[in-house]
Amino acid sequence: MSLWQNSRVLVTGGASFIGSHLTDALVERGAKVRIVDDLSSGKLENIQEHLANGTVEFIHADLREPGIARMAMRDIEYVFHLAADHGGRGYVDLHQAGPASNLFLDGLIFWEARLAGVEKVIFASSGCVYPNFLQSDPDKEIYLTEDLVKPPYDADNMYGWAKLMAELTLKAYYKEYGMKAASCRYFTVYGPRGVENHAVIAMIAKAFIGQNPFEVWGDGTQVRNWTYIDDIVRGTILAAEKIDDGTAVNLGTMERVKVIDAVNMVLEYTGHKAEIKLLTDMPTGPLNRVADNSLAKEVLGWEPQVPFREGLKRTVDWYFATKDREHVRKILSRMLTER
Ligand SMILES: NC(=O)c1ccc[n+]([C@@H]2O[C@H](COP(=O)([O-])OP(=O)(O)OC[C@H]3O[C@@H](n4cnc5c(N)ncnc54)[C@H](O)[C@@H]3O)[C@@H](O)[C@H]2O)c1
Repeated sequence: MSLWQNSRVLVTGGASFIGSHLTDALVERGAKVRIVDDLSSGKLENIQEHLANGTVEFIHADLREPGIARMAMRDIEYVFHLAADHGGRGYVDLHQAGPASNLFLDGLIFWEARLAGVEKVIFASSGCVYPNFLQSDPDKEIYLTEDLVKPPYDADNMYGWAKLMAELTLKAYYKEYGMKAASCRYFTVYGPRGVENHAVIAMIAKAFIGQNPFEVWGDGTQVRNWTYIDDIVRGTILAAEKIDDGTAVNLGTMERVKVIDAVNMVLEYTGHKAEIKLLTDMPTGPLNRVADNSLAKEVLGWEPQVPFREGLKRTVDWYFATKDREHVRKILSRMLTER
């Protein structure tokens, strides 16, 4: 019988892009899922089917409010902690105070999980914990291995520092309190239900509304390893099954894709013809961020299965089938820097 059959699981931030897909997969495996989400960036429509069928318990609340985290932990065995003050590159670069509140939120969740005696906490960490100084040359073929997160730490904005502190807290909790934990370092996730504040969805949205000239942040040479949502969810569940000691593992492909190449793939697949305009003053984040995923292969038996071109097509198809052009026109410029 699967570990998840009838297990009692809390997904914080379960109405989000990643959280809702994770919830789908846990429900499919037989878990009894409770979601707590304040809907500050998550959307009810992401979990609509579960709400209609009564397959998840949903609590609409801010986990930082007194008593909420404690109530959320009641009778829970596994906590997938995804709630965060988070956005895309524009948000992470331009907002420090909001993401700083994750220090408080993560600390509270882990504290309450320990008090409640939960079996394990699985944390949604990020490639933003890696030192910025390693990621500044787009011509270098570097792959970030987990052991590179060490002194001198140099995380990516307050958002990255909070993720780093949460990982370190979980390691200490395992060592000193015996609370089992795992951290998954997600690398630029994309797929259906993704939001326009992240690069791939922003590119698709611009093609959808016919933007011309087509605006690209930076000079387009930035390198990323966009990782498809289904691979991320599978890796997260494997980490929950196989890691106990707070180890942090990369969940990211090793496919190196330049922003400009991703833009060209979007234009080609959508058939949108436009002149490209490079906005070199806009935030780009690190110029070269790609994971090494050998630890995930070794510890989890995980390998990404969806190549970028294929995942991109699926995401474009979803976006074009579900979005309204007038609405996207209205929200797009705000969404590029907000959540
Ligand atoms: N999308 C990516 O590329 C990526 C990469 C690395 C890590 N992550 C992490 O994965 C997680 C999910 O991210 P996402 O991209 O799916 O979307 P997201 O940022 O929208 O997810 C956060 C969710 O938490 C909820 N939330 C925020 N603060 C809350 C609070 N105080 N109480 C209750 N709920 C709260 C939001 O409404 C939202 O549903 C986040 O922790 C994020 O930092 C995402």
